[in-house]
Amino acid sequence: MKYVSAFLLPVLLYSLTYIAPPGKKGKVEIGEFDHFWFALQWPPSLCEGKRDSCKDVKPNFTIHGLWPTDVQGNTLKKRVLPVADCLSFHFDDDMSPLVEDLNKYWPSFLIANTNKCFWKHEWDKHGSTISKWIENGHTPEDYFKKAVKLIENRSTKISTALEPDNSYPVSEFIEAMTKITGKEIMLQCTENKLIDNMKALIEVRLCVNSDATEFINCSGEKEKPETEKSCGQGTIEIRFPGVS
Ligand SMILES: *[C@@H]1O[C@H](CO)[C@@H](O)[C@H](O)[C@H]1NC(C)=O
Ligand SMILES: *[C@@H]1O[C@H](CO)[C@@H](O)[C@H](O)[C@H]1NC(C)=O
Ligand SMILES: *[C@@H]1O[C@H](CO)[C@@H](O)[C@H](O)[C@H]1NC(C)=O
Repeated sequence: MKYVSAFLLPVLLYSLTYIAPPGKKGKVEIGEFDHFWFALQWPPSLCEGKRDSCKDVKPNFTIHGLWPTDVQGNTLKKRVLPVADCLSFHFDDDMSPLVEDLNKYWPSFLIANTNKCFWKHEWDKHGSTISKWIENGHTPEDYFKKAVKLIENRSTKISTALEPDNSYPVSEFIEAMTKITGKEIMLQCTENKLIDNMKALIEVRLCVNSDATEFINCSGEKEKPETEKSCGQGTIEIRFPGVS
């Protein structure tokens, strides 16, 4: 139960005080936990032009995070310090099989960041905000296990839905990715790495129910315009880089 003392206190302190970052239109009111965003990143895009800071870049979507959001799709998050104290993050022994899965599906491909630091960061910033879960006895272990379950049998399907080293219209990406879960998804593109005047696909974000067991449509107020805001829409082409 060493875990509880390490995690419960900050969780209790924060659970009453979600503070939204000030947006352009002023403060966003953040509501209660409703569902998750399951963010899958595309390493070839993230590492494009900075291969020296990356390791083991593969053409596979891997987990960025499982982020609690309110009903509109505002992510609930805590301010966390940059990777400070990774060594204190220990999983219980029965986490060992899970660590193998996490290494596979949730790697940090940044050389500056170990896998465990990445997981700790994600837990601290996002996972630990789910006070409802923690009050019900859920542990970080459950959280990570659920994330693995969401991807394990879909990883290949998602990663091979479209051929990399190509560009595709936004609508084609949406269609290919929607087919995999049958639910509406969101896309995220690079802001500033235009090549041939095109952005690159950087993440696919899926929405997941509050138990983190099933995919649902991303239909919150904040979710519907996400893809268009980041990538554009319809016939606008976005790049899907390979590892070469
Ligand atoms: C990653 O991609 C490679 C090559 O496409 C594939 O063989 C491997 O199974 C993938 N790994 C995962 C975890 O999906
Ligand atoms: C994934 O596939 C394996 C092998 O077919 C199966 O045992 C497992 O239950 C599946 N996992 C999920 C989450 O569906
Ligand atoms: C999810 O979105 C699809 C496609 O827009 C729609 O057909 C379906 O009815 C939606 N499901 C729910 C539960 O809203």
